[in-house]
Amino acid sequence: MIKKIGVVGAGTMGHGIAETFALYGYDVKLYDTNATVLTKAIELIKQELELLAEEQFISTEAIQPALDRITLCTDLREAVADRDYVIEAVPEIMELKQNLFKQLDGFCAPETIFASNTSSLPLKPMMELVSEKRKKRMMVCHWYNPGHLMPIVEMSFFGNMPPEVYKEVETLYQSIKKQTVKVLKDVPGLVANRIQQGVAREVFSIIEQGIAEPEDIDKALKFGPAFRYATTGQLEVADFGGLDIWCIVGDNLLKVMDNSQCANTLLRQKVKEGKLGIKTGEGFYKYAPEDIPEIRKKFMKKLIHQLKASAYYV
Ligand SMILES: NC(=O)c1ccc[n+]([C@@H]2O[C@H](COP(=O)([O-])OP(=O)(O)OC[C@H]3O[C@@H](n4cnc5c(N)ncnc54)[C@H](O)[C@@H]3O)[C@@H](O)[C@H]2O)c1
Repeated sequence: MIKKIGVVGAGTMGHGIAETFALYGYDVKLYDTNATVLTKAIELIKQELELLAEEQFISTEAIQPALDRITLCTDLREAVADRDYVIEAVPEIMELKQNLFKQLDGFCAPETIFASNTSSLPLKPMMELVSEKRKKRMMVCHWYNPGHLMPIVEMSFFGNMPPEVYKEVETLYQSIKKQTVKVLKDVPGLVANRIQQGVAREVFSIIEQGIAEPEDIDKALKFGPAFRYATTGQLEVADFGGLDIWCIVGDNLLKVMDNSQCANTLLRQKVKEGKLGIKTGEGFYKYAPEDIPEIRKKFMKKLIHQLKASAYYV
């Protein structure tokens, strides 16, 4: 049974992963090569837990014990040597991940299960430098940002691991209230990001063609398909609507929709102009610097409300 967790990389994803495991009672060691990142990570975890308490998702009394369960480490061996499960959230560079797993293989017990939070890298080459035995205990466990609020974790079941190892990790994620998605093929983007890119391609194309203003496009998604998607998946929606109707509408619409094979031109243009979104004060919308902390907080609060409601989604 998995009890002790190691998290390697304490940035955007790593801190949220450590936070979630700690909140649900696991002993966590969090490692980063950059000590400043570790200090920032624990402060961020504290703030995020405080917001969860403010929104009555957890009790205020749960905050300190969760923080106490996280040990910050600047020594990799110390961070992972006694762990049952180690997940990495270091930058998306194959060579970096390969070498990290090689090191982990040397430091950890043979039973330790390794996971990568990669968004886009294939598992097979990532396992290249670890022992044959370890390959049977290594997988992708792909969290969504923000990790402490998004329920999904996509888990690889690509044929390298026996079913009982998968089950052990699935049980771990169920114990921290995550919704696991079993992915059977080592394809880029797994399942959720592929779906998301499909939607995003059409949305960027609609705005590029001037079909509607940004506010209306987002409204169409939030109060149209996405409103239903939160509770009912696409395949369920298709069954409810009737597959015959989906066939007719598909034939009529798909031929006039965007089918480009790379990122949208308008998107690329905005990037060129330095309009990267909230982090630069402008993307598709404008953000006054003084409003940004409140906008970020509101985004988190809405997700917390969604998370509370999601108990009814399954
Ligand atoms: N950001 C997202 O929205 C998101 C979502 C899902 C998955 N991911 C994936 O998660 C992984 C991490 O992404 P992120 O956004 O958290 O990156 P990030 O840049 O915020 O954090 C990466 C951290 O890794 C540290 N690091 C670098 N080299 C290291 C090493 N050798 N050992 C330990 N720590 C090291 C850095 O100091 C940094 O703090 C990537 O594989 C990414 O594709 C990201």
